[in-house]
Amino acid sequence: MEQQAETRVVHSPEYIIRRAEKQDIPAVIRINRLTLPENYPEWFFYEHLEKWGEAFYVAVVGGEVVGYVMSRVEHGISVFNSFKLVRKGHIVSIAVLPEHRRKGIGTALMKAALKSLSEIYGCDEVYLEVRVSNTPAIRMYEKLGFKKVKIVPMYYLDGEDAYIMAVNLREKAQD
Ligand code: ACO
Ligand code: ZN
Repeated sequence: MEQQAETRVVHSPEYIIRRAEKQDIPAVIRINRLTLPENYPEWFFYEHLEKWGEAFYVAVVGGEVVGYVMSRVEHGISVFNSFKLVRKGHIVSIAVLPEHRRKGIGTALMKAALKSLSEIYGCDEVYLEVRVSNTPAIRMYEKLGFKKVKIVPMYYLDGEDAYIMAVNLREKAQD
């Protein structure tokens, strides 16, 4: 198992992507509160780490956590075919500190989560909600193969609509 864990660590000269650990959660919570209006109670982060920790990653620069992606796994109706029951990965939250953006960290976090959701959790597809005005995130998701599949009016507390975006992992070319 040690061997397997090691192969999931992505090294680059600027940052390291590795699985989140319990000690990382306070930093993750701080980044979430700084960067997104969608915040959650502390237990929510620990629960996701405990249940779906293989798809919870952090990005580290110079020993400091600068980004995270938190996922969960759900069983239910396919986003692409309402007659099909599937195992769905759900990207619950992703963020990178402003001073570390546009360096590929968001993409690297997403790729790590998608790989785990596919290979470890056996998900058939992965979906997420995103504000219709969140162009940076939408662009990143589209580059990763996500498509806008529907719009949810007034999804957010301030009344903004959400796109549901999703990718079919069984169709996507594996890289
Ligand atoms: N404007 C336009 N396109 C952008 C921008 C931007 N500001 N930022 C990223 N992109 C697109 C670009 O196409 C970029 O590729 P390029 O740099 O080669 O042009 C591509 O996304 C990938 O960018 P990365 O460098 O991999 O992404 P980054 O590390 O900057 O993180 C993120 C992107 C996570 C969306 C970051 O902007 C962020 O933390 N935003 C605030 C939090 C947030 O909105 N999170 C998503 C909410 S939805 C959810 O959590 C399910
Ligand atoms: Zn969600």
